[in-house]
Amino acid sequence: MKKENIYILGIESSCDDTSAAVLCNDKILSNVVADQKIHAEYGGVVPELASRAHQQNIVPVVDRAIERAGISKDQLSAIAFTRGPGLMGSLLVGTSFAKSLAYGLNIPLIDVNHMQAHILAHFIDEDDHNKPPFPFLAMTISGGHTQIVKVSNYFEMEVLGETIDDAVGEAYDKSGKVLGLGYPAGPEIDKRAQLGNPKAYHFTKPKVEGLGFSFSGLKTAILYFVQRETKNNPDFVKENINDICASIQYTIIGILMDKLKLAVKQTGIKHIAIGGGVSANSGIRKALKDAEQNHGWTTYIPKFEYTTDNAAMIAIVGYLKYLEHDFSDFNVMATARLKF
Ligand code: KG4
Ligand code: ZN
Repeated sequence: MKKENIYILGIESSCDDTSAAVLCNDKILSNVVADQKIHAEYGGVVPELASRAHQQNIVPVVDRAIERAGISKDQLSAIAFTRGPGLMGSLLVGTSFAKSLAYGLNIPLIDVNHMQAHILAHFIDEDDHNKPPFPFLAMTISGGHTQIVKVSNYFEMEVLGETIDDAVGEAYDKSGKVLGLGYPAGPEIDKRAQLGNPKAYHFTKPKVEGLGFSFSGLKTAILYFVQRETKNNPDFVKENINDICASIQYTIIGILMDKLKLAVKQTGIKHIAIGGGVSANSGIRKALKDAEQNHGWTTYIPKFEYTTDNAAMIAIVGYLKYLEHDFSDFNVMATARLKF
């Protein structure tokens, strides 16, 4: 007997991207993302503006995702949405919308943890992507999080270490601000880093116990370094921007790789997956490929479109939970500091 197809609509609105995606089982039919340009002029996400933009975007984004998937709303099996972690005002838009639509269509509602979704994005079925076998280590690196997680099963995850202050994406974005680059600065620093000398300047790596991370000291060190150098030469940043970016990237990738190596040593697990916006970074991608050669790791790097925030990753968690009949009550609430 042929198994019935399951169609999941995923909705993501935790930060500044409004996204909707439709999956047929574990395959993507559509993944629409509307990013919010408005925050660039403020040099960071303004929560109040983000929730207003989600309000404007959510209906057209969901409509487009369903249209591109080539299905009708009535074919949907369930609606999955990001419950948290994230900005409360932003989460409320996606949560309320998902509830209303699921209620109206009389189909199950499925709440999803955004950080688990960054990890489980690896289980979207793609021809050119291998799925990691359990157990594996996942490093989630984004604008809001920096974690190393032991993944024993789809829903059995243990945070082995995380940042005690800033996230790695914040380190990129705040360093970029000091250097006069636009927001978000991660992609820009990455681009320039590839043209510069990574050993031109030295920044000290923080000393944090075990698998913890810290990035706030690095941000301050970069600020003082730039202030000191521009006193001697007002054009210092302009003249050396590629070398500065390369040196910052070299330091950050060094910090991430040191902790991953320690996690592998502690757990004996050599299957390593990354996720989150910073996993788009060319430096971390190359460092992981090198570790395959040098340390015998097998690494799993998400496709570019599943690195930054997207609803396809929410929909795949929805699909996996649907198979378990793990549905939400309609009184489920958005939770800004949602844990695993
Ligand atoms: O996962 P994401 O889209 O949103 C959060 O959940 O935070 O991650 C956004 C972060 C930003 O800090 C951005 O600067 C960073 O990811 N990012 C990068 C790159 N592309 C995005 N950082 C370094 N290199 C990149 N290529
Ligand atoms: Zn994210």
